[in-house]
Formats: sequence, structure tokens, C-alpha cells
Amino acid sequence: MLSVTNTIGLFGMNAFPVTVEAEVMRGLPQFDISGLPDASIKEARERVKSALASVGVPFPNKHILMNLAPADVKKSGTSFDLAIFVALMQAINVITNDLSDCVFIGELGLSGIVHGIRGTLSMTMNAKRSGYRHIFVPADNIREAACIEGIEVYGVENCIQLLGHLCGDVPLTPAPCRPPESEAVPETVLDMCDVRGQAKARAGIELAAAGGHNILLVGSPGSGKSMLANRLPTILPQMTREEMLETTNVYSVAGQLSKEHPLMTWRPFRAPHHTVSAAGLVGGGSIPAPGEISLAHNGVLFLDELAEFDRSTLEILRQPLEKREVTISRAAGTAVYPCSIMLVAAMNPCPCGYYGSTKKKCTCSAAQVKNYLGRISGPLLDRFDLHVDVDPVEYDDLTSKEKMESSAAIRERVERARDRQKKRFAGMNVYCNAMIPDHLLPEFCVLDDAAQQLLRRIHERYAISARTHSRLQRVALSAADLAGHDTVTREDVAVATQFRGFDSKYLR
Ligand SMILES: Nc1ncnc2c1ncn2[C@@H]1O[C@H](COP(=O)(O)OP(=O)(O)OP(=O)(O)O)[C@@H](O)[C@H]1O
Ligand SMILES: [Mg+2]
Ligand SMILES: [Zn+2]
Repeated sequence: MLSVTNTIGLFGMNAFPVTVEAEVMRGLPQFDISGLPDASIKEARERVKSALASVGVPFPNKHILMNLAPADVKKSGTSFDLAIFVALMQAINVITNDLSDCVFIGELGLSGIVHGIRGTLSMTMNAKRSGYRHIFVPADNIREAACIEGIEVYGVENCIQLLGHLCGDVPLTPAPCRPPESEAVPETVLDMCDVRGQAKARAGIELAAAGGHNILLVGSPGSGKSMLANRLPTILPQMTREEMLETTNVYSVAGQLSKEHPLMTWRPFRAPHHTVSAAGLVGGGSIPAPGEISLAHNGVLFLDELAEFDRSTLEILRQPLEKREVTISRAAGTAVYPCSIMLVAAMNPCPCGYYGSTKKKCTCSAAQVKNYLGRISGPLLDRFDLHVDVDPVEYDDLTSKEKMESSAAIRERVERARDRQKKRFAGMNVYCNAMIPDHLLPEFCVLDDAAQQLLRRIHERYAISARTHSRLQRVALSAADLAGHDTVTREDVAVATQFRGFDSKYLR
């Protein structure tokens, strides 16, 4: 008899419906799987055999033929195991229920255990979109699947349990739907009140957080650049539900969700070492896996010691930063991963670290300084909305007993600025000022006359690029949001310009 079982395939972040057609025929004992399966799917034969043994069903000594449709799409991974098992059980009439509105995903272990898989969230979303009413997922992945409303989700621990449910004697109860925000967020001990002095840098970080802007911190050694950047997540606004699902999706596909934290409900902070490879940074592999930039989706990618990174590795970031997604093409196909991030970088201005400092004399030659700064290309520098000079912290600031402002207080202002942005971009795929596409700038960024005049003067005096021009406007709008008004004023433009020192100071 021919049986049909539903499952979901995955390539990159892209889930697609697959049906497993199974037929058991007379003939020499043989188990064939067609439909462009890779080696891991072919190996499913052994796992399914053992699963059958675990539920006490003898393996049919016949010719078993399975086809994964659509047959012209390459398939890989172990998540088809469960559907292959169910298809076989249907074909030999152990399961006789109608399963046409059920989907099965999961990997089988040798004793019939169902192991966790990657990409459950993405697959569950697709199952719902495809109109299925029930989905059976590995018990380990139940939390991801339970985020999705409108489809009944069952967590399966082993084949005996599944068979008990499908044959009707011991039914499983579907997991109640739980939105991601009900999950606890891990605590952090870092706080902005640890950073003494540095008023300008603190203001820069706050402004960047308020609008989701990329920020570059330049300054002498030990001035607190790494310290500031590491505390950025503590002042960023909470993620929205959509953002939580998006980020969890990337981690799920990358297999980076843990048992303790089955969902990503806080903004990720990724700080790859400067020896990271291009594939590690933007993603890669024969079946493309997400890189650091995508693992930072909706959060922060921190590149400490920016000048130490390989220049060509950094250049690869340019396009994804702009498009907010990475496209990776391999022989197996093309994967697209989201990477809407805040890029934060820190560096010294020269090998000795004191170029441009008012406190200590730089001992590098002009050529050395030029060489050092030349490691970062102009176009990449252009992608930082804010450049902040971090001077060594003053003695009085460092030893003062005065309490610095806490992360909680700063975050409140940032949240308020973001609330204005949420209203501004309601119903659009834009979450913050940094994401305003160029063609919508005139609509959202309204400057009063004085602000326009100042912007014109800056443009004429510094010959800034068109990209810098629109970045200045976005930052000025964030300054306006922090100050609590809608029209951008001269002061807001002045604040934004204050954080574009790098071009004139170091690159004369
Ligand atoms: N503004 C500050 N307030 C309090 N402590 C500070 C400050 N700046 C630096 N420190 C102290 O100095 C240490 C080094 O700071 P940090 O690593 O942030 O410097 P950096 O600017 O990243 O230096 P480098 O250029 O060498 O990477 C910190 O761990 C902290 O103890
Ligand atoms: Mg540092
Ligand atoms: Zn120097």
C-alpha cells in the first residue's frame, strides 16, 4: 500500500513542505530512499530499522521504497527520520489513522529515542503557514514550537510514545502556546555606573542605543572603550516579540540554543576575536551556516581592536551591513540570513595609541599612523554613524566618590526614544532610526529651517559623502527622539555632527 506522510525540510532559514511517500512491495529485501537525499538521510534507514525494533514491530522483509517529494530539491539533515518512520508504519498498516493534517519532524536515535533538531521554529512556522493542524516535534525543541499560535504542537520523546498517540490508546496532550516574552532573561552584572567620567563617550553610546546606530570608539589604551561597548546591551531596549522570534530562529538553525535558554529573548552580543575567518564572520560551509553577524541579529556585533582584523575580512561586512541580510551561495544552494545589527567597534588611533591625545605625546611616525588607520577602508568607516573619541579618564573622575548614572536610568530614556520610533514606523519593517531606508528619509526626518542651514554649511565645508549626509540626518533624528520632539532642530544636528570627528581629526 502507498502511504503519504508530511514533514518539513530546511535550507538555511528557509523551511519548505516535504511529503514522504512510502511503498512496501514484494521482492528482495531492500530499503531505498529517492528524492535527492544526502548521506545523512540515507543513513536514516539504519535508525528507522532500530526504531522499529524498539516498538516491537518486525522489520518487513520486502522491498521498501520511499520518495521525498518535491524530488527535484536537494534535501539534507536528520530531521526527516520521524516522518520516514511514520510513513513505514503506515505502509505496513500499523498506523491506520488519517494523518493528512499532521506533520512530523525529528531525528531518531538507535533505541527509538527522538533527538532534538535544528530549525524547529522555522519549520513550525512553515507547517502553520502550509495549513497543517498538528505538528510532532522532538521534546527537546518543544519550547520553540510552542511560540507559534494556531497549530497544535506535540513534544515527542520516543517512538513508543508517538505510536501510543497515533494508534489511539495513550494520547499525548498538545503543549499550551506560550509567547516568547514569558521566558526569563539571564541577569548580567555589568552596569554603566562602573564607567567613570567619559561624559562624551557615554552620551555617544546612549545616542547610538537610542537609534540603533553603528558606533566606532577610538582612543588611547585603557580609557574604557571595551568597558563601554560591553555595557551597551544593558541600555538597549527590550526586544519586541517579532525580534525575539527572528533571533531565536537564527540560533535555532545554527543549533546554538541551549537547554537552559531555549529561546533568545534578549539582544545578542557577539564579540568575535580579531582572528575570526570570513566564513566565521558572515557565514559559510557546504550547507551555509550563519556567521557571527547573523548570530548578532537584532543585537550587537562588537569588533574590539578593529585595526587588528584582516582587512579583506572586514570588507565583506560592507554589503550585509547595508542590506541587513547576508546571501551565501554554495553548490548546494543559496541561503539568506538576516543580520540587522548594531555594529560597535573599538580601536586605538595608532600603534602606540596616543595619536591625537591631549594627554600624552604619540611616538609614532606619520607613516606609521597613516598605515595603521589605512587598515580600515573609507567605505567601512562611512558605515559608522557615530565616531567617538575616548580620551584617557581624568584622575578626578576616576577617584571621585560621585555615583555615575546606572544602566537602568539610561535605558529608560532609550526606551522612550524607541517608543517614539515604534509609533513612527508602525506597520513597517523598520524598528529604529538607523534602519530608515534612504527614500523614506525626507518623510520621517523633518528638519526645521535652522537645522537645514546648519546641515548645508557642514556639507559645503567638509565635502561629506551622500551616505554621511543621510547618516547625519538619522543620528540627528535620534537626538530629537532623546530630547522628546519630532522636528529635528539645529541643536540635534549639532549633536550628530559632534560625533563625526574621525574624518577630520585623523584622516587629513
Ligand atoms: N572610564 C573608566 N572608568 C572606570 N574604570 C576604567 C575606565 N576606563 C578604564 N577603566 C579601567 O581600565 C580597564 C581597561 O579598560 P578597557 O579595557 O575598557 O580599555 P580600552 O580602552 O579598551 O583599552 P585598549 O585600547 O587597551 O583596548 C578597565 O577594566 C577598568 O578597570
Ligand atoms: Mg579594549
Ligand atoms: Zn602613536
